[in-house]
Amino acid sequence: MALFPTNTPSPLAASSLGKSLKVSNEEFFQLRDFIYEQSGIFIAEARKYLVENRLSNRLRELNLKSFGEYYYYLRFDPNRRTELTKLFEVITTNETSFWRNPPQLEVFQNKVMKDELEKLRLARIKKLRIWSAGCSTGEEPYTLAIILHEVLKAEIGLWDIKITANDLSEAVLAAARRGIYSEYALRTTPKDIVAKYFRKDGPAYHVDPKLKRLISFGPTNLSDRAMLRRVERSNIIFCRNVIIYFDDEMKRQVIEAFYDNLLPGGCMLIGHSESLHSISRAFKPEHNSGTIVYRKEA
Ligand SMILES: C[S@@+](CC[C@H](N)C(=O)[O-])C[C@H]1O[C@@H](n2cnc3c(N)ncnc32)[C@H](O)[C@@H]1O
Repeated sequence: MALFPTNTPSPLAASSLGKSLKVSNEEFFQLRDFIYEQSGIFIAEARKYLVENRLSNRLRELNLKSFGEYYYYLRFDPNRRTELTKLFEVITTNETSFWRNPPQLEVFQNKVMKDELEKLRLARIKKLRIWSAGCSTGEEPYTLAIILHEVLKAEIGLWDIKITANDLSEAVLAAARRGIYSEYALRTTPKDIVAKYFRKDGPAYHVDPKLKRLISFGPTNLSDRAMLRRVERSNIIFCRNVIIYFDDEMKRQVIEAFYDNLLPGGCMLIGHSESLHSISRAFKPEHNSGTIVYRKEA
């Protein structure tokens, strides 16, 4: 989690400012369908309390008396676009950290990246595109930028590299662009890496500007097919801990878009608790020390 994010780090904590308002079943279904339609995020009925906890303060701020009124506000108010951005900030779960899932990153650094660079060198192509989809406050794309520096070393200057990092929430993207983090965000990052790529200023850790130069942060809604088609084609896609919030239909749609985006022979990495089982058979799964790399055949 980034330091000083503009949004509330845990929207659940916001509910402590006042008692949660109650959502009726009808209001819940209306809101749930609206959220799904706008973002692909599916909130199961058992998690109705999340809607109450996370949105009650927003209703108070807008002086609205019920979730029904809020639904009409989202649908018809002249400020509905701005409110949708706020809704995305409140409903998304932005939990992340640097060096998340170290065994997977080790496979990425020592196998996936090395093989990909070798393949590109042989083809005399010094261009690499990585897509971090659902990048939250930036820890994942910055981790990838560090790994690229570690693997390529001085040669990095000879490469045309871009990491496209997107998220639905504008607030997390603003924090990502600032690139200032707490020690907690770096808890699983090797100490020598912290010393090499961060400038410490009191309790804050600032990312090295050379990492920022490799990354292009921008808003993208994974439920918007047209938006996904505009993303430059990638050698590698990271989409970790994002599709768990989607239902199967939305997962299929997003994974298909990733498949289409990948260059032939490219690969995709997802979160360790996520699976493509019953979602897609298009990829060839490669098993490496407990990590699955999903490969698009060349
Ligand atoms: C739990 S974080 C994962 C961050 C990072 N990938 C990681 O594994 O550490 C999930 C992120 O997905 C984003 N997200 C959820 N639905 C999305 C959508 N429809 N389009 C784009 N981003 C979305 C959320 O805003 C959130 O920042």
